[in-house]
Amino acid sequence: MINAERVFHRLQELGKIGYREGGGVTRHAFTSEDRAAKDLVIKYMKEAGLEVREDAVGNVIGRREGKNPQAPVVLSGSHIDTVCDGGIFDGALGIIGAIEVLQTMNEQKVVTEHPIEVYAFNDEEGSRFSFSMFGSMGVIGRITEEDLAKKDRQGISVAEAMREQGYDPEKFRDAIRSPEELKAFIELHIEQGKVLESKNLSVGIVTGIVNELWMKIRVIGEAGHAGATPMNFRKDALVAAAEMVQVIEREAKKTGTTVATVGRLNVLPGGINIIPGQVEFTLDLRDISQEVSDKVEREIFKEIDRICQERGVRVETEILQRIPPAPCSKGFQLAAKRACEKIGLEYFCLPSGAGHDAMQMVNICPIGMIFVRSKDGISHNPAEWSSKEDCADGVKVLYHVLLETAVPI
Ligand code: GLV
Ligand code: MN
Ligand code: MN
Repeated sequence: MINAERVFHRLQELGKIGYREGGGVTRHAFTSEDRAAKDLVIKYMKEAGLEVREDAVGNVIGRREGKNPQAPVVLSGSHIDTVCDGGIFDGALGIIGAIEVLQTMNEQKVVTEHPIEVYAFNDEEGSRFSFSMFGSMGVIGRITEEDLAKKDRQGISVAEAMREQGYDPEKFRDAIRSPEELKAFIELHIEQGKVLESKNLSVGIVTGIVNELWMKIRVIGEAGHAGATPMNFRKDALVAAAEMVQVIEREAKKTGTTVATVGRLNVLPGGINIIPGQVEFTLDLRDISQEVSDKVEREIFKEIDRICQERGVRVETEILQRIPPAPCSKGFQLAAKRACEKIGLEYFCLPSGAGHDAMQMVNICPIGMIFVRSKDGISHNPAEWSSKEDCADGVKVLYHVLLETAVPI
């Protein structure tokens, strides 16, 4: 059956790529670390007996043929990139877990009607170019020419970064898959929260994924002399931004379900003796209900308008992405329940607060997700941890769901 040692060894080996002593794992899109991680995943896929290819947007794909090669393909996998100083499980478990399932099927000489493919998606985190899920957006045909022109903080565009790594950005449409050729996308992932731990359960079945609104907010005040400008004559962009950050927290807290985060804040010109003239910060706003998220967004901006008037500053906004909530298919939730019952695992059904490639894939095929318990609920942090046994439980559930979906013969 599933080889827990092999899964855990691969997670740890992959987790060394981009690791920094005193920090965590940093593997951003189209970097040498990203390339090294893809090459290692290609090695695992070959060891598993898969047919490997890479598509035009940098996704690595391993295929296990079905008895009927023309039958719609069952997809699994997750992302190969990480945030800055992240952990070794986020994304990696879904790739290594799916490879393990297919390797086990090969070892057991299982035959399925439908082919199964593992995707190691490129750039899900969006850490480099400030928009996430580039690889899965490429698969569903949502990448635009404007996306290719977006730049990282060094001023390198997506297209330039692609060329540097040997891709031809003009071919991005070659990565598109049509709904007719796909049966499902099933993603295994760590929970990144505390629900399963609090219930003392190793696995969970995901009911749906929250929306994701990312935007940039620029507060424009007036730079001035820190010594010579009396307090009443200032248009301090940072003090205004600080009030806005408080408003964001307050409005999100009111609903009980919304989460809102200001994760990046840049003060200009950034001198000790200069009143901040401009502040740029990001907003990440999520809720399982689009309606609630929209309402919180409206309330936040009503308050931001008030702060602008009171403080004589103004704001400019830029939407980085708006991804609606994604429901998981009832059919795959049931398949995962059957899998847990077969294995003898207790499970819990829960929504995902984190974003996943499945949110893009839902546009072209039904999706399912399986969660594995996270220690202390910590993620996007080097301390991120899931035990070998819990990872193996998740992979076992994935095995049964993929087998049932691909129809054993
Ligand atoms: C990705 O991990 C996200 O939810 O931002
Ligand atoms: Mn993540
Ligand atoms: Mn992830």
